[in-house]
Amino acid sequence: MEIDLSRVTLRPFELMDAHDFLIWAGDDRVTGNLRWPVLTSEEEALAFIRDVCLPHPWRRSICIDDRSIGFISIFPETGDDRFKAHIGYGLSHEYWGKGITTRAVSIAVSQVFNDLPHVLRLQAFVRTQNKASQRLVEKIGFQREGLLRKYTYLKGTIYDVFVYSLLSSDLLPLPQSYSSQIVL
Ligand SMILES: CC(C)(COP(=O)(O)OP(=O)(O)OC[C@H]1O[C@@H](n2cnc3c(N)ncnc32)[C@H](O)[C@@H]1OP(=O)(O)O)[C@@H](O)C(=O)NCCC(=O)NCCS
Repeated sequence: MEIDLSRVTLRPFELMDAHDFLIWAGDDRVTGNLRWPVLTSEEEALAFIRDVCLPHPWRRSICIDDRSIGFISIFPETGDDRFKAHIGYGLSHEYWGKGITTRAVSIAVSQVFNDLPHVLRLQAFVRTQNKASQRLVEKIGFQREGLLRKYTYLKGTIYDVFVYSLLSSDLLPLPQSYSSQIVL
């Protein structure tokens, strides 16, 4: 069944998302590629939203008709490296393959360079086996920069990953006068 992608929105998580959140965050098909624990109860989901999602610098719920069906996180580094941020995402298995995360990441990308103006570079580290995620970031316009061998430790195994980036200047070239004012 196709989904009208205008129903896809992003918003901050809320405690009342716990029930919907557990449906996808309790599914190893969604969290298996992520450093998330697999949640097993609505109480754990509530605590995770409260303790991890709400304090996160930029984490949004992917919603259909305002119900949570996934997430996008943008995590800026700190100190001198705060110009770059890591992106992660996941979607409820029942909605895979309908273009929803591509739509959601496009919305996130257009928002994040405004919300976090010190961020100039978004980077994604995608396991070589994760073809859907590779295709997704490529559709958004991320560039594959290379292969990082034995780079990511995930749930007991070390994996090779492709590194991708999208620069704020890839979207909208900044006027010279503005870019020279950026102070890191
Ligand atoms: C990765 C993930 C978010 C994709 O979400 P999605 O909403 O299904 O993605 P979309 O439908 O927007 O786009 C996926 C693209 O990958 C393609 N794709 C899916 N599976 C694929 C595969 N095995 N090989 C090649 N391409 C594949 C789809 O055909 C689509 O491309 P198209 O539009 O050109 O047809 C989802 O699979 C997921 O939640 N995975 C688990 C968590 C995860 O891996 N997160 C990313 C960590 S880097």
